[in-house]
Amino acid sequence: MQSITLRTPDDWHLHFRDDDMLAETVPATARCFARAIVMPNLVPPVVNAEQAMAYRQRILAARPVGSQFEPLMTLYLTNQTSPQDIAQAKAAGVTACKLYPAGATTNSDAAVTGISALYPVFEAMQKAGMPLLIHGEVTDSHIDIFDREKIFIETQLQPIVEAFPGLSVVFEHITTAEAAQFVTQAGANVAATITPQHLLLNRNDLLVGGVKPHNYCLPVLKRNTHQQALREVVASGNPKFFLGTDSAPHARHKKENACGCAGCYSAWSAIELYAEVFDQLGVLDKLEGFASHYGPDFYGLERNTGTITLVKSSWQVPELVALPDGTPMVPFFAGQTLNWKLEASL
Ligand code: NCD
Ligand code: ZN
Repeated sequence: MQSITLRTPDDWHLHFRDDDMLAETVPATARCFARAIVMPNLVPPVVNAEQAMAYRQRILAARPVGSQFEPLMTLYLTNQTSPQDIAQAKAAGVTACKLYPAGATTNSDAAVTGISALYPVFEAMQKAGMPLLIHGEVTDSHIDIFDREKIFIETQLQPIVEAFPGLSVVFEHITTAEAAQFVTQAGANVAATITPQHLLLNRNDLLVGGVKPHNYCLPVLKRNTHQQALREVVASGNPKFFLGTDSAPHARHKKENACGCAGCYSAWSAIELYAEVFDQLGVLDKLEGFASHYGPDFYGLERNTGTITLVKSSWQVPELVALPDGTPMVPFFAGQTLNWKLEASL
């Protein structure tokens, strides 16, 4: 049997949700990842150090017995965020801050309307050495949803990166050739995460033969030329691109709905989905850098010391998982076959 052993990976973009949901989501991620950057888009959002640390405690309480999984906390930037909030967050051990343009995605109504008004906050983050994580889409109603990432780069991201050359910026869950190119050409302080769904799928997988709500996420899947560009960039082994699943659980009835929620719940098969991509590309030797090295290197954190092993063994992603209250949820890639399987959890 073929197998590959990697340094233990981390997930640099993830949604755990809160309360009862944590009993489902935390073990799913702790199965394989030693750390994860935890998104702050709860209802209401996590906007200060105190809330982030209280949320961290709820996550720690949901870890499986014996798990050393370490959540890395983030603040949700709003029009009210101040430089003092940043200083307090840094002192409390918050890892990064997330910028959502208002209305861009799930639970982003409280987010930022005029991004330039936040420049004093970015200044404070630059000074504190705190990375800025960006959901890079404009939200103007007249801009086509397939163009929102590209236009965000030109109108918002480029000016931020120029104004703050010392600020670490992660362009989250990139979906376009333009984003891959922007990050490739930017300075060493700019990186990107890439999800399994944007490497495995394109918009045909969302729309051809009937709408597939479980493939709906934001930023929305793009045409296959963009998928191809993302695949090329991970196959190149460029350290500016690293693993961030954007695993984002929603109950089945909220996805299979006349107004379906955006988000793919990939945690139970995350590393296996990426292994599938790297295997398809013939670059399994590049998986470890993407999954386990480039993320901690960019964040200035130690790489993990343990290892995981994936074995070449076909298995089917479950059709359903049940939430702790019994509500069904459909995982990403439900019912489909994957060729690599995590041998043993941490
Ligand atoms: C995320 C969610 O459900 O919280 N949804 C998604 O489609 N990715 C929000 C986000 O990361 O944009
Ligand atoms: Zn996300």
